[in-house]
Amino acid sequence: MDHKASEALQDLHYFGEFGGVNPSISDSSTYTFLSAKTMFDTFEGNTEGCYLYSRHSSPSNLYLGEALAALEGTEAANVTASGMGAISAVILQLCGAGDHIVSSRTIYGGTYAFMKNFLKRFQIEVSFVDITDLEEVNRAIRPETRMIYCESVSNPLLEVADIRGLSGISKGRNIPLVVDNTFSPLSIAPARLGADIVIHSLTKFINGTSDAVAGVVCASRDFCLALKDVNDGACMLLGSTLDSIRAASILKNMRTLHLRVAKHSENAQCLAQRFEKDGLRVVYPGLPSHTGHELMKSMMVEQFGFGGILTLDVGCVEKANQLMELMQKENLGYLAVSLGFYKTLFSAPGTSTSSEIPEEEQKTMGLSDGLIRFSIGLDNDIERTYERMKACMESLEILPTRPLAV
Ligand SMILES: Cc1ncc(COP(=O)(O)O)c(C=O)c1O
Repeated sequence: MDHKASEALQDLHYFGEFGGVNPSISDSSTYTFLSAKTMFDTFEGNTEGCYLYSRHSSPSNLYLGEALAALEGTEAANVTASGMGAISAVILQLCGAGDHIVSSRTIYGGTYAFMKNFLKRFQIEVSFVDITDLEEVNRAIRPETRMIYCESVSNPLLEVADIRGLSGISKGRNIPLVVDNTFSPLSIAPARLGADIVIHSLTKFINGTSDAVAGVVCASRDFCLALKDVNDGACMLLGSTLDSIRAASILKNMRTLHLRVAKHSENAQCLAQRFEKDGLRVVYPGLPSHTGHELMKSMMVEQFGFGGILTLDVGCVEKANQLMELMQKENLGYLAVSLGFYKTLFSAPGTSTSSEIPEEEQKTMGLSDGLIRFSIGLDNDIERTYERMKACMESLEILPTRPLAV
């Protein structure tokens, strides 16, 4: 697919206040006006380039938003204080009492909990469907459906959504398609494939240093302005505003996103192939055995690969815990939730990031308790990492021990 997001990011340039190579950080929550009339106009949303109050917008947040709009190829983007801040704002902007959402059933546990438990208070109903079954998606749509929601590559099962197909359905029924692209920045560009709104948890790959929590909504200029409306904008009124200092640090980290995503993918691809060959149950969209492999190939930017996340099923939660503890002891990564860090992170989603999903439903969607989710790091020598991970698996009898060389 011909998408030049990395070039668009490279070409963005801003000077700091004193000619600095990074834009100056806007260190103010409020802004002065020389005339009261301009303040009034700014409140009404009529003055471009004027700032009023940083919950509404700030120069640092606008710079980061511009870079994220360039990444996703959308007209505009609003940054938020977390991925959940972006997700909840989009949902509450689009849906009210009596409305309905069709959502993939395999999504991040926090999003699932928000939809399943929290939205009940607002009489917003959600139908959770198998997003890979377009017929099922079609059947679930009702006259009051206001959104189709999915993750391009799902957390934690790595199901790949057919964004072109879903967009065909959503456009035919005049319902926005909202895609969380947290797992596949640069690799997949959902807006180019027909999504109307693209969300990220910036906390993950886009920031890449696990030192900040942030999110973004990439969409049309009108939708982004609506989110910031002082009278009824969900971003403005629910208040999940990103701090300017964090916006500035995330923008700097974005400059290396293309290098990091390619390396995360290269390392994950190598480990997935090796572990599959060893006979382990590996799920990774870059493996031909993955049911979404061909689909992802048809949507992705090849250079950036299939992403940095893979899962291994080691049979039971006890083995999963032993393996994660041993790998951490051997300095192969951290037993920690989240993803996109430069070191490898691993966790068992059934008892952590997806624990909001009831056990019965975990079973139906294929989330077993021996499943470990790996966010593969930027290790320079991945062969060395593989050998050391394999030794951990052998010592726990997850893999048979190799005969000693004579
Ligand atoms: C796919 C996905 N979307 C959204 C979120 C929520 O993001 P945040 O933790 O930044 O609120 C997460 C967090 O793990 C996630 O994995």
